[in-house]
Amino acid sequence: MTSNAPQVAGQGVGIPYPLLLVAELSYVCPLHCPYCSNPTGILGTKRSTELKTDDWTRVFGEAGKLGVLQLALTGGEPLLRKDLEELCTAGRDAGMYSTLVTSALPNLTERLPGLQAAGLDHVQISIQHSNREESDRIGGAVSYDKKLEAARRVVELGMPLTINVVLHRDNLDDVGELIDLAASLGARRLELANTQYHGWATVNRAALLPTLEQVTRGEQVVNEKRAQYGSSLDILWVLPDIFEDLPKPCMGGWASDAIILDPTGRALPCQSAATIPDLEHLSVTEHSLFDIWFDSETFNRFRGTDWMQDPCQTCPLQRQHIDFGGCRCQALALTGDITATDPVCHLSPHHGALVAKREELLAVRDEDRPAYVYRTTSPARG
Ligand code: SF4
Ligand code: FES
Repeated sequence: MTSNAPQVAGQGVGIPYPLLLVAELSYVCPLHCPYCSNPTGILGTKRSTELKTDDWTRVFGEAGKLGVLQLALTGGEPLLRKDLEELCTAGRDAGMYSTLVTSALPNLTERLPGLQAAGLDHVQISIQHSNREESDRIGGAVSYDKKLEAARRVVELGMPLTINVVLHRDNLDDVGELIDLAASLGARRLELANTQYHGWATVNRAALLPTLEQVTRGEQVVNEKRAQYGSSLDILWVLPDIFEDLPKPCMGGWASDAIILDPTGRALPCQSAATIPDLEHLSVTEHSLFDIWFDSETFNRFRGTDWMQDPCQTCPLQRQHIDFGGCRCQALALTGDITATDPVCHLSPHHGALVAKREELLAVRDEDRPAYVYRTTSPARG
């Protein structure tokens, strides 16, 4: 296990301090992206259950004292919070560098000067496609023009801009144009993350899964564009797990450097942890972040390697401290066993089933792909 800070004497010995707090301020969102990693259980979410301003402010203060350096203000859509400016100030006062992760809707352009003055450091805007109609279709809402307008305003105000694009069958062939668009907007960083199949993305897997040819070509284009733009644009490219045979270290390892707070204040070690049965989800309304991070069973559950089964326990590649056995939520979803080796690993006894599933999905012809099930919190729309 890596260590990023001195340990607390007598408490949490061996556990690194967290670096990142992901504050999911609201699950409600004006967009309805079918690849959303939010849990499908958000259907029917009520905004009245969201944490109040005072709670977030207190928790940001606790995070700052824990040594957290980065604050991601996200959702759903964080702009739906009327108190976002206050929360930016609370993040700044706690000594954290804050990033707003947003669709730019409903009103980022108008709010940007106020958010910047309140302490916001960095803006990350999602784009679904370089073509307006396609972007709006994938996001399930008219949004493209507002996104570009907001992105330009971010740069005009001298703030660092990141563009993020979740890639899938309907936009992987557009990667070159997406990179040119991000560069023309003045983004410093572009995150091209192939869809990871969590939450709503799982429901839409047959519609979203790209072909291997698309992924291979996309990677070639990324490499060519990296050479073209050099250091002026930092391009991150994340391969989809389903085409790999060794897993990624999900979240950098369970509870190794990040805390996710859902809109109601439940503290989670990863974005899908709320779906894991038998895992207690402690709320910051009842427990301090310090106690949750160091002492809770949930955050300690998959730290270290004692919990691992074979082949991870005796990994012939000695990757236990590199990938930590892969993603716990994926292992649970695909094998029914939360402690199993992630089936992405070619050493997993379940890897063959994953490959068979991939082949089955790849055999679906374009014209037979199912329609998107758009992400929503509204039972009427779902
Ligand atoms: Fe990683 Fe486990 Fe596979 Fe080894 S056996 S490479 S630790 S997932
Ligand atoms: Fe939960 Fe990977 S999403 S461990």
